Amino acid sequence: MKVLIVGSGGREHAIAWKTAQSPKVEKLYCAPGNGGIEEYAECVPIGAMEFEKLAAFAKEKEIDLTVVGMDDPLVGGIVDVFEREGLRVFGPRRNAAILEGSKAFSKDLMKKYGIPTAAYENFDDPKKALAYLEHADFPIVLKADGLALGKGVLICNTLEEAKEGVKTIMEDKQFGSAGNRMVIEEFMTGREVSVLSFVDGKTIKCMTSAQDHKRALDGDQGLNTGGMGTFSPSPFYTKEVDAFCQEHIYQATVDAMAAEGRRFQGVIFFGLMLTEKGPKVLEFNARFGDPEAQVVLPRMKNDIVEVFEACVDGTLDQIDLEFEDNAAVCVVLASGGYPVAYEKGYPIHGLENFKGKEGYYVFHAGTKLVDGQFVTNGGRVLGVTATGEDLKTARANAYEAVKLIDFEKAYCRSDIGKAIDEI
Ligand code: AMP
Ligand code: GLY
Repeated sequence: MKVLIVGSGGREHAIAWKTAQSPKVEKLYCAPGNGGIEEYAECVPIGAMEFEKLAAFAKEKEIDLTVVGMDDPLVGGIVDVFEREGLRVFGPRRNAAILEGSKAFSKDLMKKYGIPTAAYENFDDPKKALAYLEHADFPIVLKADGLALGKGVLICNTLEEAKEGVKTIMEDKQFGSAGNRMVIEEFMTGREVSVLSFVDGKTIKCMTSAQDHKRALDGDQGLNTGGMGTFSPSPFYTKEVDAFCQEHIYQATVDAMAAEGRRFQGVIFFGLMLTEKGPKVLEFNARFGDPEAQVVLPRMKNDIVEVFEACVDGTLDQIDLEFEDNAAVCVVLASGGYPVAYEKGYPIHGLENFKGKEGYYVFHAGTKLVDGQFVTNGGRVLGVTATGEDLKTARANAYEAVKLIDFEKAYCRSDIGKAIDEI
């Protein structure tokens, strides 16, 4: 088979690496890809939002399956364009990707179908939002409705902060048109868990759990980022939690989407919070997590191409997902200054240490090959994943591995997976 992957980050590197393992794949392309992905795939310089060009490329090269890794093209309707052209594609159509593309939609869906989530109200008028806040309890959570690079969520401790937040989202439009509508939501506390799942429209099969670290600095300080590191599995995702989510959340979400005429095919990412009153949904994403994919996929035993095809063909009920009985930790190496201002173009040293080193993976997020030398080319540069027989071993291995890599102004959090010490 010929497979095309759409995207350019660490997640797409992990997907490309896993896809390349499949004996079914004879040729792999990635658009636009990155320096690291070139090891497994021929990278083609077409942007992820250039749907018509991508579809033309897929036709010309007789691509058998396209896998879309990123949220923007999915929410923008890339799958509809490919299907219109008769091309096989893994990922939700535009009318289903709205599960991630509109937080107001997903909140209304959960309310309508009784899926546990925080209490909320939706607003498209900032004056009404301000009036509502006058009688609200604090802290409170404000969310821009649309895609905002994971940054459109503001946790406000006081009425003053919340009023400022409404201005930021709805009037100053700091997150662009994502802030045309807004969700105001009850503040919840508890541990967060990410559960990614494969969905074929009717059947859902969950992958092993993971946990992300979204803040830039140790101790969950600093600004929100795309994710500074992950571990898998989450020891807090117990059998009881899983049983509850299976009964009240996972299948219920797939069935709700089907009932709304929005059949979902692809990956649903459940962002869960384990509250005192039980697990609740924080958010849905319509694709693999980044950097969740970098710890989940190295533990997956299945041929991922078979799973992708089962989702597209509606035969996922015939697949048993299997994961290694081990653990994985991913530490993101970022450029100093990320997520605000950072420099690019520094040579990356030490990557050769990982050639043939089993149980270690260096997934490139923002790198470029210049004259045979990898240089930094983004805020998050690399995700260094290590496996181990348990979480503590995997974490020790990941931090040992990080020491082997060096570039100017590199930084990483030193406490990825620290929560596991509490159990
Ligand atoms: P989201 O993009 O909706 O996952 O929100 C980003 C982050 O904001 C989450 O990972 C949580 O840490 C936090 N968050 C979102 N909603 C809530 C909530 N209702 N209560 C507490 N924290 C929240
Ligand atoms: N790691 C969070 C996300 O991919 O949205």
